[in-house]
Amino acid sequence: MKRTKVVDALSSTDFGKEIIVKGWVRSHRSSKAVDFIALNDGSTIKNIQVVVDPSSIDEETLKSITTGACIGVTGLLVESQGKGQTSEIQGKDIVIYGLCPSDYPMQKKGQSFEYMRKYGHMRLRTNTFGAVFRIRHNMAIAIHRYFHEHGFYYFHTPLITGSDAEGAGNMFQVTTLDLERVAKSGKVEYEQDFFGKRTHLTVSGQLEGELGATALGAIYTFGPTFRAENSNTPRHLAEFWMVEPEVAFIDKEDLMDLEEDFIKYCVQWALDNCKDDLEFLNQMIDKTLLERLEGVLKQDFVRLSYTEGFNILKEAQEKGVKFEFPVTEWGMDLSSEHERYLVEEHFKRPVIMNDYPAEIKSFYMKKNEDGKTMQGTDVLFPRIGEIIGGSVREENYDKLVAEIEKRGMKVEQYDWYLDTRKYGSCPHGGFGLGFERLILFVTGMQNIRDVIPFARTPKNAEF
Ligand code: 4AD
Ligand code: MG
Repeated sequence: MKRTKVVDALSSTDFGKEIIVKGWVRSHRSSKAVDFIALNDGSTIKNIQVVVDPSSIDEETLKSITTGACIGVTGLLVESQGKGQTSEIQGKDIVIYGLCPSDYPMQKKGQSFEYMRKYGHMRLRTNTFGAVFRIRHNMAIAIHRYFHEHGFYYFHTPLITGSDAEGAGNMFQVTTLDLERVAKSGKVEYEQDFFGKRTHLTVSGQLEGELGATALGAIYTFGPTFRAENSNTPRHLAEFWMVEPEVAFIDKEDLMDLEEDFIKYCVQWALDNCKDDLEFLNQMIDKTLLERLEGVLKQDFVRLSYTEGFNILKEAQEKGVKFEFPVTEWGMDLSSEHERYLVEEHFKRPVIMNDYPAEIKSFYMKKNEDGKTMQGTDVLFPRIGEIIGGSVREENYDKLVAEIEKRGMKVEQYDWYLDTRKYGSCPHGGFGLGFERLILFVTGMQNIRDVIPFARTPKNAEF
């Protein structure tokens, strides 16, 4: 007989039919007359209840069915007597695939997330992490669907790169050189290295994405991204996933429309496709989760220039609001407390901040006529701060070269990138969405380490 998944058994009304379900025991309650086993196989947050007549099964076998054990149950699907579920199983025969000794680290309910992070390989079997990773899967599907439906091509940019995309530091070097030998000899011979030159893990697929967009019209990347920032915060990972659409012939207004429409589509997808998991998280993790998700869909995002935002923050500070990093001069970089003040306290809805001071943004952004600001378009979200970083790109060859030189970067390293401006340049723009930050928002989880199966953070690369 073929195995039935719990999700299908629970929605089936084929009462009286014999089926087999297989999964992990969530709980086992015994009494003289009857045993109840709650079984979960990961196909849904819900367990199926297996009702067993203890006289029908060997006593030792029944006793060994403890929380965490893996079993297969053959039995009749019957209409449930209990509240809240339609069907249950009258167990006839039970096979034990894997016993679970009592030192099982996920034994107890209500463990802290910090505790569970220590058992990162086992936490996947808990209700909360099951819900989070089913939602994570669904968000990935939503992203592909959105872009496919809107005529974007999925474009694969390299993970190992010879370019320093953002002109920033913080990259992981990739090498096959023997570091101990290098240390002894005192010099690094990059010609001897695997690629014959210095290479790194990518911090963004954008620059290569621009090559794609200026050929295919509209592309998106979706893959791992690496940043060796030493930021131990609930919003930073050293290895995270980024979604980077890049579009030819787009201006700032259309780019902001795209950012808003895209995020709303993803949130709607979660509400439409992850109902059980979201209800569970709403109940167990954050009672305002569903309300917040629905709220995002109803409201237009505020579109705010950096200058307007800066003035609001400055005024708030003058009226007594305390920031850890004081609001000082126009041109300063805003930190997440400032972003969250605007979103959570002042406007009470998402904000797309734009027209940033040129100095705090990347070299490739399009400069405004004022010469002081650039067409960046970051999306700021409640509880998260920056969820999207985007911009219109500078398409003028001379202006871009001048900016690269001004920043002390090496023009020759960007020759292939500059060719998009040299040959048939076109106005274009795009953005990067931090996938885990979206998952944080959609699940109501508080720490980014808890929305990726295996987190990489400073001093932590387990598994
Ligand atoms: O703002 P960022 O640095 O933008 C770029 O990398 C551009 N090249 C994107 C583009 O225009 N194509 O990063 C984009 C987003 C951030 O808004 C944030 O959500 C996420 O990536 N992000 C991180 N997420 C987790 N951990 C980190 N260390 C992150 N750094 C950025
Ligand atoms: Mg950014």
